Amino acid sequence: MSDPTVTLSLRINGAPWQGEVPANRLLVDFLRYDVGLTGTKEGCSVGVCGACTVRLNDRLVSSCLTLAAMADGTELTTVESLADREELKPIQRAFIEHGGFQCGICTPGQLMAAQALLEHDPNPSEDAIKAWMMSNLCRCTGYYGILRSVKAAAGGAA
Ligand code: FES
Ligand code: FES
Repeated sequence: MSDPTVTLSLRINGAPWQGEVPANRLLVDFLRYDVGLTGTKEGCSVGVCGACTVRLNDRLVSSCLTLAAMADGTELTTVESLADREELKPIQRAFIEHGGFQCGICTPGQLMAAQALLEHDPNPSEDAIKAWMMSNLCRCTGYYGILRSVKAAAGGAA
């Protein structure tokens, strides 16, 4: 007997996507292997590190803990949505200019979280940045570069 499948109809970074996936397909695998969007990274696979963060409608979710089926009918946004061809978002430029990453595995999740913060609060305090970004772990930067980057993007310095 073949595995059960579900039919999905959603928008991914503004473009319509329709198709069938296994009912137990994780969102991170759906994005990387079915859709071919490999910007979203998988770190811990258990919902702790934030590397796999994407947006479902207006909500940040860990795509390693979310079934692809849960994205049916939603607006799904990934890190690939941030740059418009060669034109980077201020938060992306800030990460480059202020040492926001080293190995880069956590960076897509950091960027998705930071972008959501800046849309929610364009001028967050340092405490607000720290509180918001707490779900995104980084083993390389010691977090100071990430903090500097988010501050710079918020202040329009990047
Ligand atoms: S890979 Fe999803 S939270 Fe770590
Ligand atoms: S840049 Fe390496 S884990 Fe964050």
